[in-house]
Amino acid sequence: MNTNPIGIFDSGLGGLTVAKAIQKLLPHESVIYFGDTARLPYGNKSPKIIKKYSLQIADFLISKGAKIIVIACNTASALALNEVQKHVRVPVVGVIDPGVKAAIHATRNKHIGVIGTVATIRSKEYENRIKATDHTMTVISQPCPLFVPLVEEGWLDGSITKAIANIYLEPFKTENIDTLVLGCTHYPLLKPLLISQTNQKIVLVDSAEPVAEKIFGMLKTSKLQSNSHKNGTLSCYISDFFSQFKTIAERFLEGPIADVTTLDLL
Ligand code: DGL
Repeated sequence: MNTNPIGIFDSGLGGLTVAKAIQKLLPHESVIYFGDTARLPYGNKSPKIIKKYSLQIADFLISKGAKIIVIACNTASALALNEVQKHVRVPVVGVIDPGVKAAIHATRNKHIGVIGTVATIRSKEYENRIKATDHTMTVISQPCPLFVPLVEEGWLDGSITKAIANIYLEPFKTENIDTLVLGCTHYPLLKPLLISQTNQKIVLVDSAEPVAEKIFGMLKTSKLQSNSHKNGTLSCYISDFFSQFKTIAERFLEGPIADVTTLDLL
């Protein structure tokens, strides 16, 4: 039994979708969240710099007593999971494996689409892990770099976002995919648009809930669950405070955000 917090980080605020899923499934756990808003986006940066930033943030979360670390960023999970796991003594969970499992479970025709940042798609982590589980799977991957700024701006719908989505989704139309992995923590906010722009029968895989279930199982097995009867808290740290912060954070969290500290890790 352990009342220490679950540490979660993302390049920005998209990982709050994962924090929300964890709080819903594990209401007695406290969460400490770090959003690297000063250095977002990670999606177009080099593997070297993504690893460096991820290790810095992991050190910070450990200094705050994190009992487990969740890399709630697909880009950092794809490029820095192994390094962070080697660097700290607590369990470290990325978002890719839970998403891969959910996609394999969802597909019927073994044609899976993956969308993500340029760095995530270039890493081929989704593709390799899906094929390592079942080599008969066909994986079609597409980077969608403009989705992150559109979501940050709150342009979740409308003709421009639709036109961009249409271009990005074009390769999937001829490939008969039945499952689409949302391989970026910003993309769940585009779900209604993606549903309207794709064949309605395509299952959209968002790793937030599978990640929360994985954390639940890990805390239970390692007897690290909180024994508190009170609801846990969410403490949010960001590396840069910007005027739109509250609006964007609350959009991801679908609720109010109160406890926010700006912390310069540079
Ligand atoms: N949060 C990142 C991810 O899930 C997307 C934003 C970025 O490019 O940093 O890949």
